[in-house]
Amino acid sequence: MKPSLLLLCTLLCAQGVFADTPAQTRVKEFKTLLRSFESMGTVVRGRDAYRPDVFARQAATLKADAGKPFANFPAGSQADSRAKAEIWSQSARFKHEQATFLQRVDTLDAAARAKDMAAIRISYGAVAQSCKSCHDAFRGPAK
Ligand code: HEC
Repeated sequence: MKPSLLLLCTLLCAQGVFADTPAQTRVKEFKTLLRSFESMGTVVRGRDAYRPDVFARQAATLKADAGKPFANFPAGSQADSRAKAEIWSQSARFKHEQATFLQRVDTLDAAARAKDMAAIRISYGAVAQSCKSCHDAFRGPAK
């Protein structure tokens, strides 16, 4: 790269010109959650072998990542996203959905560490229910 181009990039990058918007950041974080959650789902549904240590690591990853998207819902970040206005107008309800979700992810993680497939099935279903419940209330149609 020519030095002048390199300098230009350095300047623009430092100013955050190429940084993600909060909406782009949270969607990436949700997609990360989806990846862990789906690969755990194939095991829960019996389509993939249950390897307790691998599964426990995935549950720990899900737990570590579960809260991340919710740090990226600043007021005024609805544009060009599926976020509904209710996220900000009914923020207590939105926070309650988050708290229930995080609690259920903890329960799933505990079941995975205990290597208890019966408990894993139940708690996995409860987490899935939480994803759906929040999406039904707070995620609008795809744009
Ligand atoms: C407390 C609310 C809440 C919970 C819980 C939640 N989501 Fe979402 N999710 C949202 C909202 C709101 C959006 C839209 C974000 C945007 O477009 O800015 C979203 C977007 C997404 C996206 C981005 C792509 C798309 O379809 O818009 C994926 C993937 C996703 N969620 C997966 C999940 C999965 C999997 C779970 C459960 C493991 C989950 N979410 C739990 C609220 C939630």
